[in-house]
Amino acid sequence: MGKQRILSGVQPTGNLHLGNYLGAISNWVEAQSQYDNFFCVVDLHAITVPHNPSTLKENTYKTAALYLACGLDLEHCKIFVQSHICAHSELTWLLNCVTPLNWLERMIQFKEKAVKQGENVSVGLLDYPVLMAADILLYDADKVPVGEDQKQHIELTRDIAVRINDQFGSKGESVLKIPEPLIRKEGARVMSLNDGTRKMSKSDPSELSRINLLDSPEEINKKIKRCKTDPIKGLSFDEPERPECNNLLTLYMLLSGKQKQEVAAQCQDMGWGQFKPLLTEATIEALKPIQQKYQEVIDEKGYLESVLRKGRQQAEAVANATLSRVKTALGYSVPL
Ligand code: AMP
Ligand code: TRP
Repeated sequence: MGKQRILSGVQPTGNLHLGNYLGAISNWVEAQSQYDNFFCVVDLHAITVPHNPSTLKENTYKTAALYLACGLDLEHCKIFVQSHICAHSELTWLLNCVTPLNWLERMIQFKEKAVKQGENVSVGLLDYPVLMAADILLYDADKVPVGEDQKQHIELTRDIAVRINDQFGSKGESVLKIPEPLIRKEGARVMSLNDGTRKMSKSDPSELSRINLLDSPEEINKKIKRCKTDPIKGLSFDEPERPECNNLLTLYMLLSGKQKQEVAAQCQDMGWGQFKPLLTEATIEALKPIQQKYQEVIDEKGYLESVLRKGRQQAEAVANATLSRVKTALGYSVPL
């Protein structure tokens, strides 16, 4: 039996941060040899909120370079840009026409982002999860590794696929594969450094709320020094009333590569003054190799373009085959 297939992506909006890394990309890297992997930079999603055309391309390349810098290996992975493959937009249209409006109106992320934007909410923002469903379904993905916040979108993807299969599958043959989310327990929800009850996010106006993968040691030091803590001495996991403590210990555990029990034992009698330098050191050390590799990728002129060109060719073949299958099932004529 062949390997199961994985598809995932990150939006090229702003800087990638520890939430993107620990919630998504580090999981892609860890499991890559077990799967047949497709990773895209989802630049069509990036325009569902107001965007700046002069930075879109640069951010798209930066995000792809970070995929490589974090350790994705081209032996196991296809890396490509969503907008380079027309099938993403075309399948979105077909899926739109079977997706009930009220399924989209109840998406938590839509409701949250719509409130933030006030009156200027675009149809694109509402349709965002259908585009995401198209991304996943085009590649017949078995698993979709994401952070906790994307779970509802994957459930919607499954519902859309089931609906297509029910309405257009024939003789027990399904048209689309039903994917499953792959969400790691630890790190699935990295919280803001300013508030342990809110998730770390690219769109938070405060730079101090997140650590970006390309932050310098000085910036990391400053952000951890200023991050929110609590007045209780002794640090421990799993105390619901201490969200910041939980978050920072989890970050330390994941970035240092230590086991939970080891961290719990090491930190149980510590105060923040003792803990913060440890977390700072672990973060700087974990990000150093990523930053070095990133620089190498960016410095090698033409390399990234060649990676994305090859990725596009490989991904397009799979995507176009699925698109044809769906169009045939829906009753379209094959182009002459
Ligand atoms: P985005 O930045 O919204 O494009 O998210 C890209 C990936 O990072 C998705 O798989 C998200 O679930 C994941 N992600 C984003 N923010 C966090 C966070 N604070 N904690 C864990 N995962 C996150
Ligand atoms: N919506 C995802 C996010 O913001 C990004 C995304 C777009 C994605 N298409 C995808 C993730 C397909 C996984 C699979 O995090």
